[in-house]
Amino acid sequence: MSNSSCLAIVLAAGLGTRMRSTLPKVMHEIGGLPLVGHVLNSVMHAGADKVAVVVGPEMAKLEEHVALRAPHATCHVQVDRLGTAHAVKAAEEAYNDASDHVLVLFGDTPLVKPDTLHRLRERLSGGADVVVLGFEAENPFGYGRLLESDGELVAIREEKEATDEERRVTLCNAGIMAFKGNALPDLIAEIKNDNAKGEYYLTDAVEVARNKGMKVVSELGDEKEVQGINNRAQLASCEAVFQQVQRETFMENGVTLRAPETVYFSFDTEIEPDVIVEPNVVFGPGVHVDGGARIRAFSHLENAHVSTDATVGPYARLRPGAEIGEGAHIGNFVEIKNAKVEAGAKVNHLSYIGDARIGAKSNIGAGTITCNYDGYLKHHTDIGAGSFVGSDSVLVAPVKLGDGAFVAAGSVVTSDVPADALAIGRGQQVNKEGRAAVMREKLAAAKASRKG
Ligand code: UD1
Ligand code: CA
Repeated sequence: MSNSSCLAIVLAAGLGTRMRSTLPKVMHEIGGLPLVGHVLNSVMHAGADKVAVVVGPEMAKLEEHVALRAPHATCHVQVDRLGTAHAVKAAEEAYNDASDHVLVLFGDTPLVKPDTLHRLRERLSGGADVVVLGFEAENPFGYGRLLESDGELVAIREEKEATDEERRVTLCNAGIMAFKGNALPDLIAEIKNDNAKGEYYLTDAVEVARNKGMKVVSELGDEKEVQGINNRAQLASCEAVFQQVQRETFMENGVTLRAPETVYFSFDTEIEPDVIVEPNVVFGPGVHVDGGARIRAFSHLENAHVSTDATVGPYARLRPGAEIGEGAHIGNFVEIKNAKVEAGAKVNHLSYIGDARIGAKSNIGAGTITCNYDGYLKHHTDIGAGSFVGSDSVLVAPVKLGDGAFVAAGSVVTSDVPADALAIGRGQQVNKEGRAAVMREKLAAAKASRKG
């Protein structure tokens, strides 16, 4: 199979009116990635060397997303939506240039695994001309039913055309089909629209193929994996399945999740073995955590890298470009954005560090912030290794602290501090002997006179 070519056609022209959205349905997200992005990933992992996406008119955002996630994919516009076979025909240009295998999938069925697609392709390699992915539906209403005889698939009957007896069949069409590439063009050309909806049903390819003496079979899939999305409730239930799979996969791979059901992952989260994740942590896109790190409760991370033995949280926020070095500590109510916190450095309490480097083993005191933005431009703060920044300091960028610099608590640092220097940038303290007692007396008298 590995040397057979494969085209995947992803149908995504539907408007998804039940989503009640201005976005095309397949642009809604699961794990931070549009539905269609999940399908594109699966087909590419299943070895599709060509990908064709059938889109509706005026779906520029969808076309942009396809170009980003699958640069070699082509988009084909289906102007009138006359059914799933009509949608496949919109990609005629792609399938006429015969690939050995053609997979047809729906853009709104995001959880299908590459392994399942591999199984369909293996059946083609084993001699089938058409393979349909079926599943045992808990509630088959609305699905096409697979009608089988002697181990071969005879027909797929859509709900609207099914007899009462056929409606009792629980083996349903998941909507994913595989075809021998040289068979597909004739099958599509022969499908008619003489049915209840007046649509060209792709499912009719089964009977057309049988009439031509071709071998048509079904392959069994898991209902959870072939769950389709038509409304927001189904979007949420797919998200739940996706998160569940992510949690199980991470735990199998050696990640400790103290309360798995409270941790949320993105489609591309990477966590190495021996990481401990405490409850209520959210991983946005683009996060990588190295082995031995600990992500403490209620932290939110996106586009960030956490190195070995580092600690993040509780209640920390790592924003895009946060690079946390080996053994570094990021504590509670600390926000790090586009900044490198080098090995062993500590930012433990109530800080904002943006557009900065914090040198190895430096200590940033509670409440310290970098002023990185002047309303127009962002500026960099560079803190050398082994520095100590006292609590509640404001580092006004651009500014540089040399290695081993020391900043007195409460300083506003506006100019560079040389290595090993002490910077004090605050109003000087003045003590007035006995003055507090005098003030108390005056104030008490004023209060008494008001009462009288
Ligand atoms: C389809 C199957 C049904 C199966 C079910 C699984 C057919 C005729 N029926 O029914 O057997 O059990 O999926 O979920 O295939 N699309 C287009 N252009 C069109 C029509 C549809 O691109 O003209 C796309 C839609 O965007 C969607 C997919 O094809 O992604 C499926 O279409 P939909 O109308 O939802 O099919 P179902 O009635 O659910
Ligand atoms: Ca559907």
